[in-house]
Amino acid sequence: GLVGIFDLVVFGGTGDLARRKILPALFKRFCAGQMPKPSRLIGAARTDMDTEAYRAFVRIAIKEFVDIPDGDDAALEAFLAQLEYVVLDARGDTGWATLQGMMAPDRVRAFYFSVGPGLFEDLACKLHQWNLTEDDSRIVVEKPFGRDLETAQELNAILAAHFHESQIYRIDHYLGKETVQNLMAVRFGNMLFEPLWNSQYIDHIQITVAETVGVAGRDVYYERAGAMRDMVQNHLMQLLCLIAMEPPAKFEPDAVRDEKLKVIRALDPVEPHHIVRGQYTSADGVASYREDVGNDRSKTESFMALKCHLSNWRWAGTPFYLRTGKRMEVRNSKITVVFKDAPHSIFGPEAGRHNNELTIVLQPNEGITLDVTIKEPGQGGMRLMDVPLDMSFAEALGEGSHAPDAYERLIMDVIRGNQTLFMRNDEVEAAWAWTDPLIRGWESRGDVPKPYDSFTTGPDGAAQLLRRDGREWRGLL
Ligand code: BG6
Repeated sequence: GLVGIFDLVVFGGTGDLARRKILPALFKRFCAGQMPKPSRLIGAARTDMDTEAYRAFVRIAIKEFVDIPDGDDAALEAFLAQLEYVVLDARGDTGWATLQGMMAPDRVRAFYFSVGPGLFEDLACKLHQWNLTEDDSRIVVEKPFGRDLETAQELNAILAAHFHESQIYRIDHYLGKETVQNLMAVRFGNMLFEPLWNSQYIDHIQITVAETVGVAGRDVYYERAGAMRDMVQNHLMQLLCLIAMEPPAKFEPDAVRDEKLKVIRALDPVEPHHIVRGQYTSADGVASYREDVGNDRSKTESFMALKCHLSNWRWAGTPFYLRTGKRMEVRNSKITVVFKDAPHSIFGPEAGRHNNELTIVLQPNEGITLDVTIKEPGQGGMRLMDVPLDMSFAEALGEGSHAPDAYERLIMDVIRGNQTLFMRNDEVEAAWAWTDPLIRGWESRGDVPKPYDSFTTGPDGAAQLLRRDGREWRGLL
């Protein structure tokens, strides 16, 4: 889509998120022609340096995180020429007049709060005080958006005091993933699935987000968060919403977000015995969770599995099983929709019973698979087997069509002014309202997460959670 001239101010412009995600993403969009001159990225941070030094810093970051063919630095240098830097103190007066002087008329202004939530209030007030925002300027904020309902409400109130909801872009980078958007395309672009998309035909749904990384390097944040706050409250809930929501009338911000909100509000409280928490121990030469965070009594979970239910007409009776963890066997995120068996087998018990399964792989090998039942080849009567109708996006769309990074999509949506893939205030609050009692529950019971060996599938309890119901997790591989 067409992008106009913009100024993107990144507070925390020298931080890790800027280095790893925001700058590389913008560079790729620049290469795709979506940063028309004289658009700028203005880095703002406390570090004392000038624009030249900032460009040198960004040059290194881009070379680290983007594959640039050797010797092909022309695009990078052209990109760097559209970057500026201002030394700025969110809490003091340093830099604000300079920033104000840099603002140009007639362009989209976006202010990316790539800083801890502790600075949101200072930044919001300063932007206001220095008259930096216009009616359609955008504010971009990242998770963690609070650590419970109360803190999320506080953050929302701070932002609402200075900006309209239509200006606020709360990022959940899972919504920027190409396959996650494909979920909606598959559901609402095909006649094939939607008529069967309910508890009458679907036995259960599994959502797995498994990572091999540990928490080293982010220990302070993670130890206070855990898998529930870090992954379930946001990314897994968003996936659940897209899988379970009613068809919105239009693919428009409020139409989509209204439907997602209804899903979150329909979630039942989760019973304690439907929650499994785990913590990784050392294996294969990697440290344990407790070593990683330097707390040998830590009760924070690095793995979490749970079973939940939605109380509404479409889903009453269909369990949703969610699991996510660090230091798992493989990096793999996928959603599996397990359909019920055909109501009656005409082939008799010897043929075996099979059911359809739709698997949507988010990473690493993005694609969609539909298991279909066919006859086992051979002469001996009629025996059934499953074969996958397999579609890897790389194969179907060609190798060159590799999915853009989530941040590329999301940053450009900010510039375009499209909030569809961003979370609304009420959505975030509803998600916390659901997770808070679960967290408070295990805290008050003094639950300690179960240890699990690094590079496995998590604690035994996770397998039990499904086995009790006569079900199995679909493999990680
Ligand atoms: C982040 C979490 O939001 O998502 C991290 O804070 C996690 O703990 C990351 O590793 C996973 O993102 P992705 O895109 O690698 O699946």
